Amino acid sequence: MFLGSRLLLLFFLLFVISPSFVIAANKGKVPKYVGSYECKPCHEEEYKSFITYARKSNSYRSIERLKKELTEEEIKGCYICHTTGYGKPGGFISLEKTPHMKNAGCEVCHGPGEFHVKTKNPSYIKKNLSKEDCEVCHTEERVKAFRYKPLVHGGAH
Ligand code: HEC
Ligand code: HEC
Ligand code: HEC
Ligand code: HEC
Repeated sequence: MFLGSRLLLLFFLLFVISPSFVIAANKGKVPKYVGSYECKPCHEEEYKSFITYARKSNSYRSIERLKKELTEEEIKGCYICHTTGYGKPGGFISLEKTPHMKNAGCEVCHGPGEFHVKTKNPSYIKKNLSKEDCEVCHTEERVKAFRYKPLVHGGAH
Protein backbone atom coordinates (compact mmCIF):
# COMPACT_ATOMS: atom_id res chain seq x y z
CA MET A 1 0.00 0.00 0.00
CA PHE A 2 2.76 2.38 1.08
CA LEU A 3 5.00 1.24 -1.76
CA GLY A 4 2.13 1.40 -4.19
CA SER A 5 1.41 5.04 -3.54
CA ARG A 6 5.10 5.85 -3.86
CA LEU A 7 5.23 4.14 -7.20
CA LEU A 8 2.18 6.02 -8.23
CA LEU A 9 3.87 9.27 -7.25
CA LEU A 10 6.99 8.30 -9.17
CA PHE A 11 4.90 7.44 -12.18
CA PHE A 12 3.12 10.75 -11.89
CA LEU A 13 6.39 12.70 -11.70
CA LEU A 14 8.04 10.86 -14.58
CA PHE A 15 5.24 10.64 -17.09
CA VAL A 16 2.82 13.39 -16.25
CA ILE A 17 4.75 16.30 -14.80
CA SER A 18 8.14 16.12 -16.53
CA PRO A 19 6.92 16.04 -20.16
CA SER A 20 4.90 19.13 -19.48
CA PHE A 21 8.04 20.79 -18.14
CA VAL A 22 9.89 19.92 -21.32
CA ILE A 23 7.14 21.37 -23.45
CA ALA A 24 7.00 24.48 -21.30
CA ALA A 25 10.77 24.92 -21.55
CA ASN A 26 10.67 24.89 -25.33
CA LYS A 27 7.62 27.04 -25.57
CA GLY A 28 9.09 29.63 -23.28
CA LYS A 29 12.24 29.88 -25.36
CA VAL A 30 12.70 33.51 -26.21
CA PRO A 31 15.29 34.89 -28.61
CA LYS A 32 18.26 36.62 -27.03
CA TYR A 33 19.44 40.14 -27.64
CA VAL A 34 22.60 40.08 -29.74
CA GLY A 35 23.57 43.75 -30.25
CA SER A 36 23.52 46.07 -33.27
CA TYR A 37 26.92 45.01 -34.56
CA GLU A 38 25.49 41.58 -35.43
CA CYS A 39 23.11 43.24 -37.88
CA LYS A 40 25.84 45.05 -39.79
CA PRO A 41 26.91 42.30 -42.24
CA CYS A 42 23.42 42.03 -43.73
CA HIS A 43 22.03 45.54 -43.18
CA GLU A 44 25.02 47.74 -43.83
CA GLU A 45 22.99 50.78 -44.89
CA GLU A 46 20.70 50.82 -41.85
CA TYR A 47 23.66 50.17 -39.61
CA LYS A 48 25.77 53.02 -40.97
CA SER A 49 22.97 55.51 -40.91
CA PHE A 50 21.96 54.49 -37.40
CA ILE A 51 25.49 54.74 -36.00
CA THR A 52 26.05 58.07 -37.74
CA TYR A 53 22.80 59.89 -37.00
CA ALA A 54 20.69 58.29 -34.29
CA ARG A 55 21.28 59.58 -30.77
CA LYS A 56 20.35 56.12 -29.50
CA SER A 57 23.66 54.83 -30.77
CA ASN A 58 25.36 57.05 -28.18
CA SER A 59 22.80 56.81 -25.43
CA TYR A 60 25.20 55.43 -22.83
CA ARG A 61 27.14 58.67 -23.00
CA SER A 62 24.08 60.48 -21.67
CA ILE A 63 24.28 58.37 -18.52
CA GLU A 64 27.98 59.02 -18.18
CA ARG A 65 27.43 62.74 -18.48
CA LEU A 66 25.25 62.77 -15.35
CA LYS A 67 26.91 59.91 -13.51
CA LYS A 68 28.68 61.98 -10.86
CA GLU A 69 25.41 63.29 -9.48
CA LEU A 70 23.78 59.85 -9.29
CA THR A 71 23.80 56.88 -6.91
CA GLU A 72 24.44 53.33 -8.16
CA GLU A 73 20.74 52.58 -7.89
CA GLU A 74 19.77 55.67 -9.84
CA ILE A 75 22.24 54.78 -12.57
CA LYS A 76 20.70 51.31 -12.86
CA GLY A 77 17.38 53.05 -13.37
CA CYS A 78 18.73 54.59 -16.58
CA TYR A 79 19.68 51.24 -18.15
CA ILE A 80 16.17 50.15 -19.02
CA CYS A 81 15.92 52.93 -21.65
CA HIS A 82 19.49 53.93 -22.42
CA THR A 83 20.94 50.44 -23.07
CA THR A 84 19.75 47.38 -25.02
CA GLY A 85 17.81 44.55 -23.38
CA TYR A 86 18.66 45.36 -19.78
CA GLY A 87 17.48 42.52 -17.52
CA LYS A 88 16.56 40.30 -20.47
CA PRO A 89 18.39 37.31 -22.01
CA GLY A 90 21.50 38.48 -23.87
CA GLY A 91 20.89 42.07 -22.86
CA PHE A 92 22.99 44.66 -21.07
CA ILE A 93 24.36 43.68 -17.66
CA SER A 94 27.25 46.02 -17.02
CA LEU A 95 29.91 47.95 -18.88
CA GLU A 96 32.51 45.29 -18.00
CA LYS A 97 30.43 42.25 -18.93
CA THR A 98 28.46 43.51 -21.92
CA PRO A 99 30.12 46.57 -23.48
CA HIS A 100 28.51 45.79 -26.87
CA MET A 101 25.04 46.29 -25.40
CA LYS A 102 25.65 49.61 -23.69
CA ASN A 103 23.76 51.82 -26.14
CA ALA A 104 20.13 51.59 -27.19
CA GLY A 105 20.45 49.68 -30.47
CA CYS A 106 18.47 48.20 -33.35
CA GLU A 107 16.78 45.72 -31.08
CA VAL A 108 15.08 48.26 -28.82
CA CYS A 109 12.76 48.83 -31.78
CA HIS A 110 12.98 45.57 -33.72
CA GLY A 111 13.06 43.21 -30.74
CA PRO A 112 15.66 40.58 -29.79
CA GLY A 113 17.48 39.38 -32.90
CA GLU A 114 18.94 35.96 -32.09
CA PHE A 115 16.54 33.79 -34.13
CA HIS A 116 16.50 36.24 -37.04
CA VAL A 117 20.30 36.48 -37.17
CA LYS A 118 20.61 32.67 -37.15
CA THR A 119 17.97 32.04 -39.80
CA LYS A 120 17.74 35.33 -41.79
CA ASN A 121 14.03 34.72 -41.62
CA PRO A 122 12.17 38.07 -41.59
CA SER A 123 9.29 36.61 -39.61
CA TYR A 124 11.56 36.40 -36.55
CA ILE A 125 12.06 40.16 -36.42
CA LYS A 126 9.54 42.90 -35.80
CA LYS A 127 9.09 45.33 -38.66
CA ASN A 128 5.79 47.11 -38.30
CA LEU A 129 6.16 49.34 -35.31
CA SER A 130 3.54 51.38 -33.56
CA LYS A 131 3.77 54.19 -31.09
CA GLU A 132 3.35 51.71 -28.23
CA ASP A 133 6.76 50.32 -29.17
CA CYS A 134 8.24 53.78 -28.60
CA GLU A 135 6.27 54.67 -25.50
CA VAL A 136 8.06 52.06 -23.43
CA CYS A 137 10.86 54.61 -23.24
CA HIS A 138 9.44 57.78 -24.71
CA THR A 139 6.97 58.00 -21.87
CA GLU A 140 4.38 60.69 -21.68
CA GLU A 141 5.82 62.48 -18.70
CA ARG A 142 9.30 62.37 -20.15
CA VAL A 143 8.53 63.96 -23.44
CA LYS A 144 5.32 65.93 -23.41
CA ALA A 145 5.98 67.30 -26.86
CA PHE A 146 7.07 64.02 -28.44
CA ARG A 147 5.03 63.67 -31.62
CA TYR A 148 4.72 59.94 -32.02
CA LYS A 149 2.95 59.58 -35.32
CA PRO A 150 5.33 61.50 -37.59
CA LEU A 151 8.23 60.20 -35.55
CA VAL A 152 7.60 56.49 -35.83
CA HIS A 153 10.14 56.58 -38.64
CA GLY A 154 12.41 58.98 -36.78
CA GLY A 155 15.49 58.17 -34.75
CA ALA A 156 16.15 55.03 -36.75
CA HIS A 157 18.01 54.96 -40.06
C1 HEC B 1 22.69 36.87 -41.88
C2 HEC B 1 22.01 38.03 -42.41
C3 HEC B 1 21.15 38.87 -41.51
C4 HEC B 1 21.47 39.38 -40.28
C5 HEC B 1 22.75 39.16 -39.49
C6 HEC B 1 20.36 40.21 -39.89
N1 HEC B 1 19.39 40.20 -40.86
FE1 HEC B 1 17.68 41.26 -40.89
N2 HEC B 1 17.14 40.42 -42.65
C7 HEC B 1 17.91 39.53 -43.35
C8 HEC B 1 17.18 39.10 -44.53
C9 HEC B 1 17.68 38.13 -45.60
C10 HEC B 1 15.94 39.79 -44.49
C11 HEC B 1 14.83 39.73 -45.52
C12 HEC B 1 15.16 40.78 -46.53
C13 HEC B 1 14.07 41.01 -47.49
O1 HEC B 1 13.04 40.36 -47.41
O2 HEC B 1 14.29 41.93 -48.31
C14 HEC B 1 15.96 40.61 -43.29
C15 HEC B 1 14.92 41.44 -42.93
C16 HEC B 1 14.95 42.27 -41.83
C17 HEC B 1 13.89 43.18 -41.44
C18 HEC B 1 12.59 43.36 -42.17
C19 HEC B 1 11.64 42.30 -41.70
C20 HEC B 1 10.40 42.20 -42.54
O3 HEC B 1 9.38 41.73 -41.99
O4 HEC B 1 10.43 42.55 -43.71
C21 HEC B 1 14.30 43.80 -40.30
C22 HEC B 1 13.51 44.83 -39.51
C23 HEC B 1 15.60 43.28 -39.96
N3 HEC B 1 15.97 42.35 -40.89
C24 HEC B 1 16.32 43.68 -38.86
C25 HEC B 1 17.51 43.08 -38.45
C26 HEC B 1 18.17 43.38 -37.21
C27 HEC B 1 17.69 44.37 -36.18
C28 HEC B 1 19.30 42.60 -37.17
C29 HEC B 1 20.31 42.49 -36.05
C30 HEC B 1 19.78 42.11 -34.75
C31 HEC B 1 19.32 41.82 -38.39
N4 HEC B 1 18.22 42.14 -39.14
C32 HEC B 1 20.31 40.91 -38.72
C33 HEC B 1 19.15 39.09 -43.03
C34 HEC B 1 19.83 39.38 -41.86
C1 HEC C 1 11.76 55.69 -19.34
C2 HEC C 1 12.95 55.74 -20.18
C3 HEC C 1 14.14 56.55 -19.74
C4 HEC C 1 14.80 56.47 -18.54
C5 HEC C 1 14.49 55.58 -17.34
C6 HEC C 1 15.89 57.43 -18.62
N1 HEC C 1 15.88 58.04 -19.84
FE1 HEC C 1 17.20 59.49 -20.45
N2 HEC C 1 16.10 59.71 -22.16
C7 HEC C 1 15.05 58.92 -22.54
C8 HEC C 1 14.58 59.35 -23.84
C9 HEC C 1 13.44 58.72 -24.60
C10 HEC C 1 15.39 60.43 -24.22
C11 HEC C 1 15.31 61.19 -25.54
C12 HEC C 1 14.95 62.59 -25.37
C13 HEC C 1 13.56 62.72 -24.92
O1 HEC C 1 12.65 62.35 -25.66
O2 HEC C 1 13.36 63.23 -23.82
C14 HEC C 1 16.33 60.66 -23.11
C15 HEC C 1 17.28 61.67 -23.08
C16 HEC C 1 18.25 61.79 -22.12
C17 HEC C 1 19.28 62.83 -22.10
C18 HEC C 1 19.37 63.97 -23.06
C19 HEC C 1 20.32 63.72 -24.16
C20 HEC C 1 20.49 64.98 -24.98
O3 HEC C 1 21.57 65.13 -25.53
O4 HEC C 1 19.58 65.79 -25.03
C21 HEC C 1 20.08 62.60 -21.00
C22 HEC C 1 21.31 63.39 -20.57
C23 HEC C 1 19.53 61.44 -20.34
N3 HEC C 1 18.41 60.99 -21.03
C24 HEC C 1 20.05 60.88 -19.19
C25 HEC C 1 19.40 59.92 -18.43
C26 HEC C 1 19.89 59.45 -17.14
C27 HEC C 1 21.18 59.88 -16.47
C28 HEC C 1 18.96 58.56 -16.69
C29 HEC C 1 18.95 57.81 -15.37
C30 HEC C 1 18.99 58.63 -14.18
C31 HEC C 1 17.90 58.46 -17.70
N4 HEC C 1 18.21 59.30 -18.73
C32 HEC C 1 16.80 57.64 -17.60
C33 HEC C 1 14.51 57.87 -21.84
C34 HEC C 1 14.84 57.53 -20.55
C1 HEC D 1 13.83 53.95 -33.39
C2 HEC D 1 13.45 52.63 -33.84
C3 HEC D 1 14.36 51.88 -34.78
C4 HEC D 1 15.68 51.55 -34.58
C5 HEC D 1 16.54 51.87 -33.38
C6 HEC D 1 16.08 50.79 -35.74
N1 HEC D 1 15.03 50.66 -36.61
FE1 HEC D 1 15.00 49.56 -38.32
N2 HEC D 1 13.11 50.21 -38.71
C7 HEC D 1 12.39 51.05 -37.90
C8 HEC D 1 11.16 51.41 -38.60
C9 HEC D 1 10.08 52.32 -38.04
C10 HEC D 1 11.18 50.72 -39.83
C11 HEC D 1 10.16 50.79 -40.94
C12 HEC D 1 9.15 49.73 -40.83
C13 HEC D 1 8.08 49.98 -41.86
O1 HEC D 1 8.39 49.98 -43.04
O2 HEC D 1 6.95 50.19 -41.43
C14 HEC D 1 12.41 49.97 -39.88
C15 HEC D 1 12.79 49.12 -40.92
C16 HEC D 1 13.96 48.36 -40.94
C17 HEC D 1 14.33 47.39 -41.95
C18 HEC D 1 13.48 47.01 -43.15
C19 HEC D 1 13.76 47.95 -44.26
C20 HEC D 1 12.81 47.74 -45.40
O3 HEC D 1 12.78 48.63 -46.22
O4 HEC D 1 12.11 46.73 -45.43
C21 HEC D 1 15.55 46.90 -41.63
C22 HEC D 1 16.36 45.86 -42.41
C23 HEC D 1 15.96 47.55 -40.39
N3 HEC D 1 14.97 48.43 -40.01
C24 HEC D 1 17.15 47.30 -39.76
C25 HEC D 1 17.61 48.02 -38.67
C26 HEC D 1 18.94 47.90 -38.13
C27 HEC D 1 20.02 46.97 -38.67
C28 HEC D 1 19.01 48.76 -37.08
C29 HEC D 1 20.21 49.09 -36.22
C30 HEC D 1 21.44 49.41 -36.91
C31 HEC D 1 17.70 49.38 -36.92
N4 HEC D 1 16.89 48.92 -37.93
C32 HEC D 1 17.34 50.26 -35.92
C33 HEC D 1 12.74 51.48 -36.63
C34 HEC D 1 13.96 51.33 -36.06
C1 HEC E 1 14.61 51.15 -25.08
C2 HEC E 1 14.13 52.52 -25.07
C3 HEC E 1 13.69 53.19 -26.36
C4 HEC E 1 12.74 52.77 -27.27
C5 HEC E 1 11.90 51.50 -27.24
C6 HEC E 1 12.65 53.80 -28.25
N1 HEC E 1 13.54 54.80 -27.96
FE1 HEC E 1 13.89 56.50 -29.05
N2 HEC E 1 15.36 57.05 -27.75
C7 HEC E 1 15.70 56.40 -26.60
C8 HEC E 1 16.74 57.11 -25.91
C9 HEC E 1 17.39 56.69 -24.59
C10 HEC E 1 17.02 58.27 -26.67
C11 HEC E 1 18.00 59.37 -26.33
C12 HEC E 1 19.41 58.95 -26.55
C13 HEC E 1 20.34 59.99 -25.95
O1 HEC E 1 20.38 61.12 -26.47
O2 HEC E 1 21.01 59.64 -25.00
C14 HEC E 1 16.13 58.21 -27.84
C15 HEC E 1 16.09 59.14 -28.85
C16 HEC E 1 15.17 59.17 -29.86
C17 HEC E 1 15.02 60.26 -30.82
C18 HEC E 1 15.88 61.50 -30.85
C19 HEC E 1 16.49 61.84 -32.17
C20 HEC E 1 17.55 60.91 -32.69
O3 HEC E 1 18.03 61.16 -33.80
O4 HEC E 1 17.98 59.93 -32.07
C21 HEC E 1 13.97 59.92 -31.63
C22 HEC E 1 13.38 60.71 -32.78
C23 HEC E 1 13.46 58.62 -31.20
N3 HEC E 1 14.21 58.21 -30.12
C24 HEC E 1 12.41 57.94 -31.78
C25 HEC E 1 11.95 56.70 -31.38
C26 HEC E 1 10.85 55.99 -32.02
C27 HEC E 1 10.08 56.52 -33.21
C28 HEC E 1 10.70 54.82 -31.35
C29 HEC E 1 9.71 53.72 -31.62
C30 HEC E 1 9.66 53.19 -32.96
C31 HEC E 1 11.67 54.79 -30.27
N4 HEC E 1 12.42 55.93 -30.34
C32 HEC E 1 11.80 53.76 -29.36
C33 HEC E 1 15.15 55.22 -26.14
C34 HEC E 1 14.19 54.47 -26.80
